[in-house]
Amino acid sequence: MIVTGVSGYLGGRLAARAVRRGWSVVGTVHAGRCSVAAVQVERIDLVDRSATAALLDRIRPDAVIHAATGRDRGDWAAVADATGTVAVAAAAVGARLVHVSSDAVLSGRQPPYDESALPDPVNRYGAGKAAAETVVKAVAPGAAIVRAPLIVGTDGDSKYERMTPALIAGEPGALFTDSYRSPIHVDDLSEALLELATAGAAAGEHAGVLNVAGPETISFHQLGMLIARRQGLDPALVPSARAGELDVVIPRDTRLDTSLATGLLTIRLRGVREFLA
Ligand SMILES: NC(=O)c1ccc[n+]([C@@H]2O[C@H](COP(=O)([O-])OP(=O)(O)OC[C@H]3O[C@@H](n4cnc5c(N)ncnc54)[C@H](OP(=O)(O)O)[C@@H]3O)[C@@H](O)[C@H]2O)c1
Repeated sequence: MIVTGVSGYLGGRLAARAVRRGWSVVGTVHAGRCSVAAVQVERIDLVDRSATAALLDRIRPDAVIHAATGRDRGDWAAVADATGTVAVAAAAVGARLVHVSSDAVLSGRQPPYDESALPDPVNRYGAGKAAAETVVKAVAPGAAIVRAPLIVGTDGDSKYERMTPALIAGEPGALFTDSYRSPIHVDDLSEALLELATAGAAAGEHAGVLNVAGPETISFHQLGMLIARRQGLDPALVPSARAGELDVVIPRDTRLDTSLATGLLTIRLRGVREFLA
C-alpha cells in the first residue's frame, strides 16, 4: 500500500502499524523524514500531478491511504489540490483509496453530526478539507472518506501532549474552554484506516464519508487537564481562554455520531478519558 505523509504524525504511526500487520508499505514524504525502517520512502510533492501519477503507476498499490495534508493548514494546494492528484492517480491504477478528512469541514454549530452532514467550514483549512472531500467523491466514488477529530496519542508526541507542558512552563497561549472535540487515539484511527483499506474486510467496501471518532466530547482545556494529570503536572496550571472572546475562528462543537463506524469496524474506538487515564 501507499501511505502519504509518513513524515507526519498520523502517517508515521499508521505506516509502522501497517508494517506490523504485514503490509508492504511505500510512504511519501515532502520536506521531512520517515523513521519507520521497513517503509520504502518516496520524496514527492503531491501537488505535482504528473509525479504523483508516475509514482502510483510505478508502485501499483492495492490501496492508498492519503494522510498527507499541508503542514501549514492554510496551504490550499497541499490540503485540497494534492488530494485531487492523489485521487486521480489512485483511480487510474484501480487502487482502493482511503482519504483522511477532518471534523474541520464542520462549523460545530449543530452537533452531533452524522455522515450526511454537509460541510459548512468556518476557516480556510476546513474549506480545503471540504474541497478535498468533494474531489474524492467525484473522482473515486468508491473511496472511503474518514472524518477524523483531534488526533491524540499517549507517547508524548501528539500536538497537545507537547503543547500542554509548554503552556504550563509559561509559553504564551491558552486552551479553549468553549470549543469541544471528540478526540481519537492515533492507534485506534490507524487501525480503522487499515481496516478500511483491506479488501475482504467489512469496512473494505465502505464508500463515502465515515465518522471515526472517540465516544467522549471534551473542551480543549479539559483535554489539556487530562494530559497534565497523565504527565504528573498540576492540571490547575493549564491556562484557559474563551475562543469566543478572542479573534479566533474555529469550529465550536464537532461531536460526531459514530454509530455507522461502530457497526462497520472491528476496532473499538476508545474515549479520551479512557486512553489518557
Ligand atoms: N492532527 C489532527 O489532530 C488531525 C485532526 C483531524 C484530521 N487530521 C487529518 O489527518 C491527516 C494527518 O494529520 P497530521 O496532523 O498527522 O499531519 P502532519 O503531522 O501535519 O503531517 C502532514 C504530512 O503531509 C505531508 N505533506 C505536506 N505537504 C505536502 C505536499 N505538498 N506533498 C507531499 N506531502 C506533503 C508532510 O510532509 P513533510 O513533513 O515531509 O513535509 C507530512 O508528512 C491530515 O489529513 C489531517 O488533515 C488531523
